[in-house]
Amino acid sequence: MAEPRGIDLSSNDYLCLAQDPRLKEAMIEGVRRYGAGSTASRLLRGHRDVFDRVESEFSRLKGTERSLYFSTGYQANLGIFQTFLEEGDAVFSDELNHASIIDGIRLSKAEKVIFNHGDVEDLRSRLCSVEVKGQKFVVTESLFSMDGDIAPLKEYAAICRETGANLIVDEAHAVGIYGRKGSGMIEETGIWDDVFVSINTAGKALGVAGAFVSGDEQTIEYLVQRCRSFIFSTAPPPAVAYALSKVIGMIEMEEDRRTRLMALSALFGGMLSEAGFPVRERPTQIVPIVIGRSEEAVAVASKLQEAGFDVRAIRPPTVPEGTARLRISLNTGVSEADLERLVILLKDIVKKEIETAFFV
Ligand SMILES: Cc1ncc(COP(=O)(O)O)c(C=O)c1O
Repeated sequence: MAEPRGIDLSSNDYLCLAQDPRLKEAMIEGVRRYGAGSTASRLLRGHRDVFDRVESEFSRLKGTERSLYFSTGYQANLGIFQTFLEEGDAVFSDELNHASIIDGIRLSKAEKVIFNHGDVEDLRSRLCSVEVKGQKFVVTESLFSMDGDIAPLKEYAAICRETGANLIVDEAHAVGIYGRKGSGMIEETGIWDDVFVSINTAGKALGVAGAFVSGDEQTIEYLVQRCRSFIFSTAPPPAVAYALSKVIGMIEMEEDRRTRLMALSALFGGMLSEAGFPVRERPTQIVPIVIGRSEEAVAVASKLQEAGFDVRAIRPPTVPEGTARLRISLNTGVSEADLERLVILLKDIVKKEIETAFFV
Protein backbone atom coordinates (compact mmCIF):
# COMPACT_ATOMS: atom_id res chain seq x y z
CA MET A 1 0.00 0.00 0.00
CA ALA A 2 1.34 3.42 -0.89
CA GLU A 3 0.19 6.94 -0.01
CA PRO A 4 -0.96 9.25 -2.86
CA ARG A 5 2.04 10.85 -4.57
CA GLY A 6 2.19 12.94 -7.70
CA ILE A 7 -0.55 13.85 -10.15
CA ASP A 8 -3.68 11.85 -9.32
CA LEU A 9 -4.47 9.46 -12.15
CA SER A 10 -5.65 6.55 -10.06
CA SER A 11 -8.31 7.66 -7.59
CA ASN A 12 -12.05 7.66 -8.24
CA ASP A 13 -12.36 11.31 -7.20
CA TYR A 14 -13.37 12.08 -10.77
CA LEU A 15 -14.89 15.49 -10.01
CA CYS A 16 -12.27 16.53 -7.44
CA LEU A 17 -14.92 16.86 -4.77
CA ALA A 18 -13.15 15.03 -1.93
CA GLN A 19 -11.02 18.11 -1.19
CA ASP A 20 -13.69 20.72 -1.92
CA PRO A 21 -13.64 23.28 0.93
CA ARG A 22 -17.45 23.47 1.00
CA LEU A 23 -17.67 19.73 1.53
CA LYS A 24 -14.99 19.72 4.20
CA GLU A 25 -16.93 22.45 6.00
CA ALA A 26 -20.15 20.47 5.67
CA MET A 27 -18.46 17.41 7.17
CA ILE A 28 -17.14 19.47 10.09
CA GLU A 29 -20.57 21.06 10.62
CA GLY A 30 -22.10 17.58 10.48
CA VAL A 31 -19.79 16.36 13.23
CA ARG A 32 -20.68 19.42 15.34
CA ARG A 33 -24.39 18.74 14.91
CA TYR A 34 -24.47 14.96 15.22
CA GLY A 35 -21.18 13.87 16.83
CA ALA A 36 -18.56 11.51 15.51
CA GLY A 37 -20.63 8.37 15.19
CA SER A 38 -24.20 7.13 14.94
CA THR A 39 -23.89 4.68 17.89
CA ALA A 40 -26.32 2.01 16.63
CA SER A 41 -28.10 0.45 13.67
CA ARG A 42 -30.58 2.67 11.80
CA LEU A 43 -33.44 0.46 12.97
CA LEU A 44 -32.44 1.13 16.59
CA ARG A 45 -30.96 4.33 18.02
CA GLY A 46 -28.61 4.98 15.07
CA HIS A 47 -31.19 6.74 12.88
CA ARG A 48 -31.13 10.54 12.35
CA ASP A 49 -33.40 12.66 10.19
CA VAL A 50 -30.42 13.63 8.04
CA PHE A 51 -30.39 10.09 6.61
CA ASP A 52 -34.02 10.44 5.49
CA ARG A 53 -33.25 13.85 4.05
CA VAL A 54 -30.24 12.78 2.03
CA GLU A 55 -32.02 9.67 0.79
CA SER A 56 -34.93 11.71 -0.52
CA GLU A 57 -32.56 14.26 -2.10
CA PHE A 58 -30.67 11.45 -3.80
CA SER A 59 -33.95 9.89 -5.01
CA ARG A 60 -34.92 13.21 -6.55
CA LEU A 61 -31.57 13.38 -8.37
CA LYS A 62 -31.81 9.75 -9.45
CA GLY A 63 -35.44 9.98 -10.53
CA THR A 64 -36.63 7.10 -8.33
CA GLU A 65 -39.22 6.86 -5.57
CA ARG A 66 -36.87 5.97 -2.77
CA SER A 67 -33.26 5.25 -1.81
CA LEU A 68 -31.50 3.59 1.09
CA TYR A 69 -28.06 4.72 2.23
CA PHE A 70 -25.42 2.10 3.10
CA SER A 71 -21.97 2.65 4.68
CA THR A 72 -20.21 1.35 1.55
CA GLY A 73 -21.01 0.11 -1.93
CA TYR A 74 -19.53 -3.25 -1.00
CA GLN A 75 -21.96 -3.54 1.89
CA ALA A 76 -24.85 -2.58 -0.38
CA ASN A 77 -23.96 -5.27 -2.91
CA LEU A 78 -23.39 -7.85 -0.19
CA GLY A 79 -26.88 -7.15 1.09
CA ILE A 80 -29.15 -6.72 -1.88
CA PHE A 81 -28.69 -10.07 -3.62
CA GLN A 82 -29.23 -12.05 -0.46
CA THR A 83 -32.36 -10.00 0.20
CA PHE A 84 -34.03 -10.16 -3.20
CA LEU A 85 -32.84 -13.47 -4.65
CA GLU A 86 -34.49 -16.63 -3.40
CA GLU A 87 -34.00 -20.34 -3.95
CA GLY A 88 -35.18 -21.22 -7.46
CA ASP A 89 -34.25 -17.78 -8.82
CA ALA A 90 -31.41 -17.24 -11.28
CA VAL A 91 -29.08 -14.29 -11.61
CA PHE A 92 -27.36 -13.51 -14.90
CA SER A 93 -24.14 -11.65 -14.18
CA ASP A 94 -21.62 -10.01 -16.55
CA GLU A 95 -18.30 -11.86 -16.38
CA LEU A 96 -16.44 -8.65 -15.45
CA ASN A 97 -18.75 -7.52 -12.68
CA HIS A 98 -17.12 -6.13 -9.54
CA ALA A 99 -16.05 -8.39 -6.66
CA SER A 100 -18.77 -6.95 -4.41
CA ILE A 101 -21.44 -8.16 -6.87
CA ILE A 102 -19.81 -11.58 -7.09
CA ASP A 103 -19.63 -11.85 -3.31
CA GLY A 104 -23.21 -10.62 -2.91
CA ILE A 105 -24.45 -13.28 -5.32
CA ARG A 106 -22.47 -15.93 -3.41
CA LEU A 107 -24.48 -15.14 -0.31
CA SER A 108 -27.77 -15.73 -2.12
CA LYS A 109 -29.38 -19.08 -2.84
CA ALA A 110 -30.01 -18.26 -6.50
CA GLU A 111 -28.40 -20.03 -9.44
CA LYS A 112 -25.60 -17.95 -10.95
CA VAL A 113 -25.26 -17.70 -14.74
CA ILE A 114 -22.29 -15.76 -16.13
CA PHE A 115 -22.70 -14.06 -19.50
CA ASN A 116 -19.92 -12.75 -21.76
CA HIS A 117 -18.85 -9.22 -21.02
CA GLY A 118 -21.24 -6.69 -22.55
CA ASP A 119 -22.62 -9.36 -24.90
CA VAL A 120 -26.30 -8.70 -25.62
CA GLU A 121 -26.82 -11.84 -27.68
CA ASP A 122 -25.11 -14.09 -25.15
CA LEU A 123 -27.32 -12.67 -22.40
CA ARG A 124 -30.43 -13.14 -24.52
CA SER A 125 -29.64 -16.73 -25.35
CA ARG A 126 -28.86 -17.63 -21.73
CA LEU A 127 -32.02 -15.92 -20.49
CA CYS A 128 -34.04 -17.92 -23.00
CA SER A 129 -32.33 -21.25 -22.49
CA VAL A 130 -31.81 -21.56 -18.73
CA GLU A 131 -34.84 -23.04 -17.03
CA VAL A 132 -35.76 -20.99 -14.00
CA LYS A 133 -38.50 -21.86 -11.50
CA GLY A 134 -38.49 -18.51 -9.76
CA GLN A 135 -37.52 -15.01 -10.86
CA LYS A 136 -34.72 -13.96 -13.20
CA PHE A 137 -32.32 -11.14 -12.39
CA VAL A 138 -29.73 -9.53 -14.64
CA VAL A 139 -26.87 -7.58 -13.06
CA THR A 140 -24.30 -5.34 -14.68
CA GLU A 141 -22.13 -2.35 -13.94
CA SER A 142 -23.11 0.60 -16.12
CA LEU A 143 -19.53 1.88 -16.53
CA PHE A 144 -17.04 -0.89 -15.86
CA SER A 145 -14.53 0.00 -13.18
CA MET A 146 -11.44 -1.66 -14.64
CA ASP A 147 -12.27 -1.50 -18.35
CA GLY A 148 -13.90 1.90 -18.68
CA ASP A 149 -16.48 0.65 -21.16
CA ILE A 150 -20.22 1.23 -21.00
CA ALA A 151 -22.78 -1.58 -20.76
CA PRO A 152 -25.46 -1.69 -23.49
CA LEU A 153 -28.15 -0.77 -20.97
CA LYS A 154 -30.89 0.01 -23.49
CA GLU A 155 -30.54 -3.42 -25.06
CA TYR A 156 -30.44 -5.11 -21.66
CA ALA A 157 -33.57 -3.22 -20.63
CA ALA A 158 -35.38 -4.45 -23.74
CA ILE A 159 -34.30 -8.07 -23.19
CA CYS A 160 -35.33 -7.92 -19.54
CA ARG A 161 -38.74 -6.59 -20.58
CA GLU A 162 -39.14 -9.42 -23.12
CA THR A 163 -38.06 -12.15 -20.72
CA GLY A 164 -39.56 -10.77 -17.52
CA ALA A 165 -36.16 -10.43 -15.86
CA ASN A 166 -35.34 -7.81 -13.21
CA LEU A 167 -32.45 -5.52 -14.15
CA ILE A 168 -29.97 -4.47 -11.44
CA VAL A 169 -27.46 -1.78 -12.40
CA ASP A 170 -24.34 -0.83 -10.44
CA GLU A 171 -23.66 2.81 -11.23
CA ALA A 172 -20.55 3.05 -9.01
CA HIS A 173 -18.43 4.80 -11.64
CA ALA A 174 -21.20 6.61 -13.53
CA VAL A 175 -23.19 8.36 -10.81
CA GLY A 176 -22.38 12.06 -10.52
CA ILE A 177 -21.05 12.16 -14.07
CA TYR A 178 -23.37 10.87 -16.79
CA GLY A 179 -26.86 12.00 -17.74
CA ARG A 180 -28.17 15.56 -17.97
CA LYS A 181 -28.52 15.87 -14.20
CA GLY A 182 -25.44 13.78 -13.50
CA SER A 183 -27.35 10.88 -11.96
CA GLY A 184 -25.72 8.21 -14.11
CA MET A 185 -26.13 6.01 -17.17
CA ILE A 186 -29.69 5.02 -16.31
CA GLU A 187 -30.61 8.66 -16.78
CA GLU A 188 -28.53 8.98 -19.93
CA THR A 189 -30.22 5.98 -21.52
CA GLY A 190 -33.67 6.81 -20.11
CA ILE A 191 -34.31 3.31 -18.78
CA TRP A 192 -35.57 4.25 -15.28
CA ASP A 193 -38.75 2.20 -15.67
CA ASP A 194 -36.82 -0.94 -16.58
CA VAL A 195 -34.48 -0.94 -13.60
CA PHE A 196 -35.36 -2.95 -10.51
CA VAL A 197 -32.70 -1.30 -8.34
CA SER A 198 -29.49 0.63 -8.90
CA ILE A 199 -26.42 0.86 -6.67
CA ASN A 200 -24.86 4.32 -6.55
CA THR A 201 -21.62 4.68 -4.63
CA ALA A 202 -20.95 7.98 -2.91
CA GLY A 203 -17.21 7.56 -2.30
CA LYS A 204 -16.14 7.99 -5.91
CA ALA A 205 -17.39 10.91 -8.04
CA LEU A 206 -19.45 12.18 -5.09
CA GLY A 207 -16.24 12.45 -3.09
CA VAL A 208 -17.54 11.26 0.29
CA ALA A 209 -18.44 7.66 1.25
CA GLY A 210 -21.21 5.06 1.21
CA ALA A 211 -23.77 4.09 -1.40
CA PHE A 212 -27.43 4.64 -2.23
CA VAL A 213 -29.56 1.76 -3.41
CA SER A 214 -32.45 3.26 -5.37
CA GLY A 215 -35.73 1.79 -6.55
CA ASP A 216 -39.45 2.00 -5.99
CA GLU A 217 -41.01 2.57 -2.59
CA GLN A 218 -42.00 -1.03 -1.95
CA THR A 219 -38.67 -2.51 -3.06
CA ILE A 220 -36.65 -0.20 -0.84
CA GLU A 221 -38.97 -0.76 2.12
CA TYR A 222 -38.35 -4.50 1.66
CA LEU A 223 -34.61 -3.79 1.93
CA VAL A 224 -35.11 -1.79 5.12
CA GLN A 225 -36.99 -4.70 6.68
CA ARG A 226 -34.88 -7.59 5.35
CA CYS A 227 -31.39 -6.58 4.25
CA ARG A 228 -28.95 -8.14 6.72
CA SER A 229 -25.95 -5.96 5.82
CA PHE A 230 -28.11 -2.89 6.49
CA ILE A 231 -29.92 -4.08 9.60
CA PHE A 232 -27.04 -5.71 11.43
CA SER A 233 -24.53 -2.91 11.05
CA THR A 234 -24.00 0.37 12.87
CA ALA A 235 -25.35 3.27 10.82
CA PRO A 236 -22.73 5.42 9.07
CA PRO A 237 -21.70 8.64 10.85
CA PRO A 238 -24.58 11.11 10.29
CA ALA A 239 -21.98 13.78 9.44
CA VAL A 240 -21.27 11.85 6.26
CA ALA A 241 -24.93 12.05 5.29
CA TYR A 242 -24.88 15.76 6.08
CA ALA A 243 -21.90 16.28 3.74
CA LEU A 244 -23.57 14.17 1.06
CA SER A 245 -26.62 16.36 1.20
CA LYS A 246 -24.33 19.25 0.23
CA VAL A 247 -22.71 17.28 -2.58
CA ILE A 248 -26.01 16.28 -4.18
CA GLY A 249 -26.83 19.98 -4.58
CA MET A 250 -23.42 20.57 -6.10
CA ILE A 251 -23.86 17.76 -8.61
CA GLU A 252 -27.19 19.25 -9.65
CA MET A 253 -25.89 22.81 -9.96
CA GLU A 254 -22.32 22.42 -11.18
CA GLU A 255 -22.62 20.87 -14.59
CA ASP A 256 -19.29 22.35 -15.68
CA ARG A 257 -17.41 19.66 -13.70
CA ARG A 258 -19.03 16.91 -15.74
CA THR A 259 -18.48 18.79 -18.97
CA ARG A 260 -14.77 19.21 -18.18
CA LEU A 261 -14.37 15.52 -17.33
CA MET A 262 -16.02 14.53 -20.61
CA ALA A 263 -13.80 16.96 -22.54
CA LEU A 264 -10.66 15.57 -20.87
CA SER A 265 -11.78 11.99 -21.60
CA ALA A 266 -12.25 12.82 -25.29
CA LEU A 267 -8.96 14.71 -25.46
CA PHE A 268 -6.99 11.91 -23.79
CA GLY A 269 -8.65 9.32 -26.05
CA GLY A 270 -7.63 11.38 -29.09
CA MET A 271 -4.05 11.75 -27.87
CA LEU A 272 -3.71 8.03 -27.16
CA SER A 273 -5.14 7.13 -30.51
CA GLU A 274 -2.74 9.46 -32.26
CA ALA A 275 0.11 7.83 -30.37
CA GLY A 276 -0.96 4.44 -31.71
CA PHE A 277 -2.88 3.10 -28.71
CA PRO A 278 -6.23 1.50 -29.49
CA VAL A 279 -9.04 3.47 -27.82
CA ARG A 280 -12.73 2.91 -27.33
CA GLU A 281 -15.25 4.48 -29.63
CA ARG A 282 -16.57 6.44 -26.68
CA PRO A 283 -13.74 7.31 -24.32
CA THR A 284 -14.69 7.61 -20.63
CA GLN A 285 -12.78 8.84 -17.60
CA ILE A 286 -11.47 5.30 -16.99
CA VAL A 287 -8.75 4.29 -19.43
CA PRO A 288 -7.18 0.82 -19.18
CA ILE A 289 -3.87 0.10 -20.82
CA VAL A 290 -3.52 -3.64 -20.74
CA ILE A 291 0.08 -4.79 -20.43
CA GLY A 292 -0.39 -8.50 -19.76
CA ARG A 293 2.04 -9.76 -17.14
CA SER A 294 1.82 -8.36 -13.60
CA GLU A 295 5.55 -7.64 -13.22
CA GLU A 296 5.57 -5.65 -16.43
CA ALA A 297 2.51 -3.63 -15.47
CA VAL A 298 4.13 -2.83 -12.11
CA ALA A 299 7.38 -1.83 -13.84
CA VAL A 300 5.60 0.56 -16.19
CA ALA A 301 3.56 2.03 -13.31
CA SER A 302 6.68 2.69 -11.26
CA LYS A 303 8.36 4.46 -14.19
CA LEU A 304 5.32 6.72 -14.48
CA GLN A 305 5.35 7.29 -10.73
CA GLU A 306 9.02 8.29 -10.87
CA ALA A 307 8.01 10.87 -13.47
CA GLY A 308 5.38 12.31 -11.09
CA PHE A 309 2.21 10.52 -12.26
CA ASP A 310 0.27 8.51 -9.69
CA VAL A 311 -0.72 5.65 -11.97
CA ARG A 312 -1.21 2.23 -10.36
CA ALA A 313 -0.93 -1.25 -11.81
CA ILE A 314 -4.05 -3.40 -11.49
CA ARG A 315 -3.30 -7.11 -11.28
CA PRO A 316 -5.21 -10.39 -11.02
CA PRO A 317 -7.43 -11.29 -9.23
CA THR A 318 -8.86 -7.75 -9.58
CA VAL A 319 -8.65 -8.28 -13.36
CA PRO A 320 -8.51 -11.59 -15.28
CA GLU A 321 -5.22 -13.51 -15.50
CA GLY A 322 -2.93 -12.20 -18.23
CA THR A 323 -4.58 -8.76 -18.36
CA ALA A 324 -2.59 -6.83 -15.74
CA ARG A 325 -2.92 -3.21 -16.68
CA LEU A 326 -2.49 0.41 -15.94
CA ARG A 327 -5.83 1.86 -14.93
CA ILE A 328 -5.65 5.53 -15.72
CA SER A 329 -8.55 7.42 -14.22
CA LEU A 330 -9.00 11.04 -15.13
CA ASN A 331 -10.29 13.80 -12.90
CA THR A 332 -11.19 17.43 -13.46
CA GLY A 333 -7.97 18.62 -11.80
CA VAL A 334 -5.64 17.12 -14.41
CA SER A 335 -4.33 19.62 -16.94
CA GLU A 336 -4.18 19.18 -20.69
CA ALA A 337 -0.40 19.64 -20.52
CA ASP A 338 -0.14 16.80 -17.95
CA LEU A 339 -1.99 14.49 -20.31
CA GLU A 340 0.24 15.44 -23.20
CA ARG A 341 3.34 14.66 -21.13
CA LEU A 342 1.81 11.40 -19.94
CA VAL A 343 1.08 10.15 -23.46
CA ILE A 344 4.63 10.92 -24.61
CA LEU A 345 6.01 9.05 -21.60
CA LEU A 346 3.64 6.14 -22.03
CA LYS A 347 4.58 5.70 -25.64
CA ASP A 348 8.24 5.86 -24.79
CA ILE A 349 8.14 3.51 -21.79
CA VAL A 350 5.74 0.94 -23.18
CA LYS A 351 7.36 0.72 -26.58
CA LYS A 352 10.86 0.55 -25.12
CA GLU A 353 10.34 -1.78 -22.22
CA ILE A 354 7.56 -4.16 -23.07
CA GLU A 355 7.92 -5.99 -26.28
CA THR A 356 4.86 -8.10 -25.64
CA ALA A 357 2.57 -5.22 -24.73
CA PHE A 358 -0.95 -5.16 -26.08
CA PHE A 359 -3.83 -2.80 -25.56
CA VAL A 360 -7.58 -2.93 -25.49
C1 LIG B 1 -18.66 -1.43 -9.55
C2 LIG B 1 -18.41 -1.26 -8.10
N1 LIG B 1 -19.39 -1.57 -7.23
C3 LIG B 1 -19.21 -1.43 -5.91
C4 LIG B 1 -18.03 -0.98 -5.39
C5 LIG B 1 -17.87 -0.88 -3.91
O1 LIG B 1 -18.08 0.42 -3.48
P1 LIG B 1 -17.38 0.96 -2.16
O2 LIG B 1 -15.98 1.30 -2.53
O3 LIG B 1 -18.21 2.12 -1.76
O4 LIG B 1 -17.43 -0.15 -1.15
C6 LIG B 1 -16.99 -0.62 -6.24
C7 LIG B 1 -15.71 -0.12 -5.70
O5 LIG B 1 -14.71 -0.03 -6.32
C8 LIG B 1 -17.18 -0.77 -7.65
O6 LIG B 1 -16.22 -0.47 -8.51
